[in-house]
Amino acid sequence: MPLVSMNEFLPRAKAEKFAVGQFNMNNLEFAQAIVQAAMEEKSPFIFGVSEGALKYMGIEFTVALAEAAAKKSGLPIALHLDHGSSFEIAMKCIRAGFSSVMFDGSHYPFEENVRLTKEIVKAAHAMGVSVEGELGTIGGVEDDISVEDADARLANPEEAIRFYEETGVDCLAIAVGTAHGMYKAEPKIRFDIIEKVASAIPVPIVLHGGSGVPDDDIRKSIQAGVGKINVNTENQIALTNKIREILNNDPKVYDPRKYLSPAREAMVEVVRSKIRLFGSNNKA
Ligand code: 13P
Repeated sequence: MPLVSMNEFLPRAKAEKFAVGQFNMNNLEFAQAIVQAAMEEKSPFIFGVSEGALKYMGIEFTVALAEAAAKKSGLPIALHLDHGSSFEIAMKCIRAGFSSVMFDGSHYPFEENVRLTKEIVKAAHAMGVSVEGELGTIGGVEDDISVEDADARLANPEEAIRFYEETGVDCLAIAVGTAHGMYKAEPKIRFDIIEKVASAIPVPIVLHGGSGVPDDDIRKSIQAGVGKINVNTENQIALTNKIREILNNDPKVYDPRKYLSPAREAMVEVVRSKIRLFGSNNKA
C-alpha cells in the first residue's frame, strides 16, 4: 500500500472517538518498532518527522523507510512533517513523497498564521496531501524548538474555530496544557477547550506532547475530541534506557545489533500500549 493522507483515517477517528498515534521516526529502529507494533495491533498510524530528524536521517532515507513500512505492512500509514517552519520545507517534503505536513505558524500573529497556513493548505490539497495547523504555544523542548513554561500560551477557543474556518486544515493542534518532553509536574489539560473547539469544527484536535500524560487524561481528551496524539520522548527513553542497561552490564559489547535489537523491542512495547490506549487497534 502507498503512503496515505491523514484523511484516510482521521474522519473515522473523530466519528468513532479514537485517536491515531503520531509516532516520531528518528532512525531505522524507530521505523521498524513502530510498524511492528502497528501490524500486530492492526492500527493505522502516522510517522512524524521533525526538521531535526529530517536533517539527521536525510530526506531520501526518511521517505524510503516510510514507504518500505507501508509496503511491508499493507497498513494505512501517513508520512507527516512535524512542526514544519516554512512553505519551502513543506513543499520540499511533499515533492520527496511525504503524504502529510504540519505547518507550525503558532509563533506568528494570528492573521499571519492564517495567511501562511492557507497557502500551504491550497498547495498540499491540490496534491492530495493533508495539513495540520497549530494555534497557541505548546511548552517544552523538541529538537531546536524550546518554549519556557512561562511562555506557553493556551489556545483561545474562538480563535481556534475561526482558524479552522479560514484555513481548512485537516486537523488542528491547539495548546491545551501538554508540553513536549517528560513532565516536571503532572500536566493540567484543559478538556473544556478541547471540547469547545472540537464540537464546533468537523476535524479532530491534535494533542502534542503525548509522552508522560496519564492514561486517564488521554482517554478524557479523546472523548472531548482529540483524534491524533503525538508521542516521541517515551520511545526515545525506552530505547536509550535499554541500550544504557546493556552497555553498563557488559562493557565488552561492540556489535550494535546486540543492544539495538532489545532496544527496538522496548519501543515496540511502548507503541503497542499507546495504540491500545488510543483505541486505534483493529481500525486499519
Ligand atoms: P513528546 O516528545 O512529549 O511525546 O511529544 C511529541 C510531539 O508532540 C511531537 O510533535
